[in-house]
Amino acid sequence: MRTLILPIRTARLSLREFVQSDLRAVYAYSSDPRVTRYLFFGPRDEDSTAEYLEGLLASQRERPRTRFELAVEENESGRVVGACDLSYIERNVVDLGYMLGIDVWGKGLATEIALALVDAAFFDLRADRVISTVDVNNGASIRVLEKIGMRWEAVFRKHRRAKNRWWDCHLFVLPREVWEASRVDYAPEATP
Ligand SMILES: CC(C)(COP(=O)(O)OP(=O)(O)OC[C@H]1O[C@@H](n2cnc3c(N)ncnc32)[C@H](O)[C@@H]1OP(=O)(O)O)[C@@H](O)C(=O)NCCC(=O)NCCS
Repeated sequence: MRTLILPIRTARLSLREFVQSDLRAVYAYSSDPRVTRYLFFGPRDEDSTAEYLEGLLASQRERPRTRFELAVEENESGRVVGACDLSYIERNVVDLGYMLGIDVWGKGLATEIALALVDAAFFDLRADRVISTVDVNNGASIRVLEKIGMRWEAVFRKHRRAKNRWWDCHLFVLPREVWEASRVDYAPEATP
């Protein structure tokens, strides 16, 4: 069965399973309207945060597991500063997402997370394609996807209706062969 090897460690972060005691931290970032501005949900109140965390903990027990929503913990402080996820949307296609509390924006953390998740999607989940959809006005997230080498593929007009408006979204894609070509240390059939 394909699964992620956790935790995923990066230079500054640990991407790990959520636990019940993360509730306050989850509420701190997901109740902030600046954080959820370009997300289909939220801002969350205390009840909906608890409900969301309950659903998320239940999803950890699903087999086969299709959704890996992970806590983003800072190594230095031990603090949970956000969430990120990989979710199968088709057999070999994995969707990537991330959100961080506003106090840690602008330090390159999302780029660090996205790079690590892309590697995990191709190595551990053996995806053929990693995709991400992002609101056309979400400049910071678009920039992150560009920085990690994802390619713009399409714009979906009225992709979704949420929070009383229609959402126009960009589709970004990273095909497996492009990721392989970008990795100096990846050699599926190593040549001498
Ligand atoms: C999107 C998000 C995760 C980015 O996190 P981050 O750790 O600040 O991202 P990084 O520091 O790795 O990179 C951000 C890049 O966007 C740029 N940027 C920031 N705001 C921008 C804007 N409004 N327009 C264009 N670029 C912007 C930064 O300059 C940086 O690029 P650079 O390295 O070339 O200077 C964070 O803003 C967030 O949590 N937003 C709310 C949740 C969300 O929208 N998630 C994505 C859903 S698709």
